[in-house]
Amino acid sequence: MKDTIISIKNVTKRFPGITANDDISLDIQQGEIFALLGENGAGKSVLMSMLFGLYEPDEGDIWIKGQRVKEYSPRQAARMGVGMVHQHFKLVENYTIAQNIVLGMEPITKGLGFLPLVNISESEKTIEDFSKRYQLNVNPRDRIEHVNVATRQKVEILKMLYKEADILIFDEPTAILTPQEIQYLLGIIRELRENGKTIILVSHKLEEIKEVADRCGILNRGRLVDVKEVATTSTREMANLMVGREVMLDVNKPTPTFGKVILEVENLHVKNQDQITMVKDVSFTIRSGEIFAIAGVSGNGQTEIAEAITGLKKTASGTVRLNQVDITDLPVRQRNLEGIAYIPEDRQTYGLILDDPVADNLVLKQYFQEPFSSPGGRLNPEAFHHYAERLITTYDIRSNKGANSITRSLSGGNQQKMIIAREIEQDTPLIIFVQPTRGLDVGAIENTWQQILQEQQKGKAILLISLELDEIMALADTIGVIYNGELLTVEAASQLTAMEIGAYMMGVKEDE
Ligand SMILES: Nc1ncnc2c1ncn2[C@@H]1O[C@H](COP(=O)(O)OP(=O)(O)OP(=O)(O)O)[C@@H](O)[C@H]1O
Ligand SMILES: [Mg+2]
Repeated sequence: MKDTIISIKNVTKRFPGITANDDISLDIQQGEIFALLGENGAGKSVLMSMLFGLYEPDEGDIWIKGQRVKEYSPRQAARMGVGMVHQHFKLVENYTIAQNIVLGMEPITKGLGFLPLVNISESEKTIEDFSKRYQLNVNPRDRIEHVNVATRQKVEILKMLYKEADILIFDEPTAILTPQEIQYLLGIIRELRENGKTIILVSHKLEEIKEVADRCGILNRGRLVDVKEVATTSTREMANLMVGREVMLDVNKPTPTFGKVILEVENLHVKNQDQITMVKDVSFTIRSGEIFAIAGVSGNGQTEIAEAITGLKKTASGTVRLNQVDITDLPVRQRNLEGIAYIPEDRQTYGLILDDPVADNLVLKQYFQEPFSSPGGRLNPEAFHHYAERLITTYDIRSNKGANSITRSLSGGNQQKMIIAREIEQDTPLIIFVQPTRGLDVGAIENTWQQILQEQQKGKAILLISLELDEIMALADTIGVIYNGELLTVEAASQLTAMEIGAYMMGVKEDE
């Protein structure tokens, strides 16, 4: 029998209009990997935030290592050995990795006994030791601005290790990683357990939980509905428990009928800010009623293609035509009006105004038109509200106060649903989906796939950019594989197997 390291006793946390955690009791064992799953908005992040001291329970209490938590603050949590990797990293771009790690420390570090920043070379050595022990391959002297997301995440892990945390919380750590990076991270998590750490892993990826976790707890609308041994629980069982109904995840894709060409991309070249060519001579067309998917490993130019079509990035050369109109040099807003809806990859930066209410965000692209504004320019709040409530129902957007909720307070997955709802409802001839289901629970993924297929049935041209091969195989009519900025192949989805796509994604060409 292992020791209990965390004991959550009858914890309830309410926000105006919602009980985010409802009488939760749960023990976490020392040295286990405990997975927490549940639908978008089920209360996972709120529960983790209490362990990390960001929120205080309204009722009940939390015991860590046999001590009742009296003061809820991140500082106190750190003292008790709790560390957390948040989904949105908090790193200073022009500092080195070592500086970032030391920066978060309390002024006088117990056990180390020196002031941070004074003795940076000693810290660098400590960090190097950790990096070696866990095979993180991180150079503490690199600047954050020069490293990719996977490395940034490792920096967050090193931060916890440096602070001598032994309870490590990961809130959806794999949502932003490529499949290779995910395998690597899961290896690190196992290694951490071998070294006696206790891990809590929040994730929507059931295969991943199956692979790495010892036990899993399932939250549903704020309540802990079950705790299971992972070894004897199937992913299907987990999915059903968390959604509260049978989840299929194989969509019934109707035979498509293609109409006229909606989007034409011809000899497109796009450069990044360092003048490096990210997109090389890419050409493709999408017809009405067609789902065209671009598959590829992240960072091979797919984001730049989307941004060149929407106008967020300038093209170096080439032409983009929408309904036969050359839009290559039009400003973004005019392209929206010409008929492009866009679900971006980086939802927090491009997608939403987080401090505004849900209703305002849902009409963000139409508020200057009737019925939301009168011809004289007066806003009509009732129309905002009415419209928002309809979208909230249709797209199952969960929050504490419906249309009046502040967007920031919505869970990550529900913010994503807001963007999907707003963009689909533009009713434009072209919709661009970039990673549409990232961070969504399995039930919400199923709904989103259905919505994409419905749009196809209405004759929309759809560009789907995804790192998830499953998603591409489930939805696409035509698949292009991008590698190093080039489209290596464009073929009917029925002509390609997942294995072949995988090979193209690694840069293997047909004649090799
Ligand atoms: N500060 C807040 N104010 C009001 N409501 C909040 C606040 N924080 C969270 N909520 C609400 O509490 C509920 C639980 O949110 P939480 O972020 O824990 O969900 P989650 O399980 O992490 O979902 P996801 O998988 O989408 O990340 C949501 O309905 C959310 O809107
Ligand atoms: Mg969350």
